[in-house]
Amino acid sequence: MPVRYAPYADARQRRKPGLAPLDFSTWIETDEYFSDQMTYRERLIDERRAVVFAETDNSEPAQNELLETLLANLDARSDYDVSAAEVRRPDGVIVPLRDDPPVLTSGRLAQEDFCVLEKGAEEYVLTSAILCFPSRWSLAEKIGHPLTTIHDPVPDYTEDLAKRVNRVFEGVKTGLPLWRANWTVHDHSELHQPSGGWRKEEGGETLYIRVERQTFVRLPKTQAVVFGIRTFIDPLDNLSDEQAAALLELVAVQDADDIDYRGGEALHEKILVYLTARLE
Ligand code: HEM
Repeated sequence: MPVRYAPYADARQRRKPGLAPLDFSTWIETDEYFSDQMTYRERLIDERRAVVFAETDNSEPAQNELLETLLANLDARSDYDVSAAEVRRPDGVIVPLRDDPPVLTSGRLAQEDFCVLEKGAEEYVLTSAILCFPSRWSLAEKIGHPLTTIHDPVPDYTEDLAKRVNRVFEGVKTGLPLWRANWTVHDHSELHQPSGGWRKEEGGETLYIRVERQTFVRLPKTQAVVFGIRTFIDPLDNLSDEQAAALLELVAVQDADDIDYRGGEALHEKILVYLTARLE
């Protein structure tokens, strides 16, 4: 069965930033992993709170508005039961709404992670987040920083792309949310990868495609933008032949900086060998 999101196989999504309009009723996506992933999120929030949650001073109004907007969205669905004090999730778990900072509570309600960005002196700045499933970055390193600084380690985040992304943030309109997707290949299926020395780590034999469905929602009162990250991990074996061929086309032309950023030469070679053999 082909994987659900394959931005590398879609001409519009391949071009960065590759944004498209989002139907707001699909902002939150649940799937068969809901219960397992929510149990994992609860554990991370309890045991690794300082790793998965961060907030800056004065971020509470935008956090509150995120939670309000999320509750209104979930209330329109048949699989959530929303009341003033609590929410019953699709897995039957009751989440109290007033115990924790609002962005953290939001992270207990959905498989999505949420980053809240607010307009700073020049650019949008990351002011609060719940990030249980980071793809090899540390929230503590990025909180309070503007978008361009956040992307400092990324080789293909050029000055031109930075300008375009800043324009996107200025231009996200209330009621007209957007989405895009990115991809990367890991030799690990772990959802929670909060940076560390991963570039030097030995992974396993199986290769996985990791895709983030990223959403951009403007909050009308505070004018903050919520960046939602919904992570999907599948073994490369699950790609259709068309998806595998499209991925090979991109992997084959990656430059040295990009290869280095995404895990180094040995991993790159492993991906090439796998995809070439797969398509023979
Ligand atoms: C249209 C908007 C955006 C574009 C085009 C973009 C582009 C990129 C690209 C090309 C990468 C390299 C890895 C990959 O290909 O996925 C990346 C990584 C990253 N992005 Fe974005 N991004 C966007 C929005 C955001 C936002 C809103 C945040 C806020 C938290 C963010 C945080 C990051 C982080 C933390 C990394 C990893 C950086 C590292 O390795 O330290 N991005 N982004």
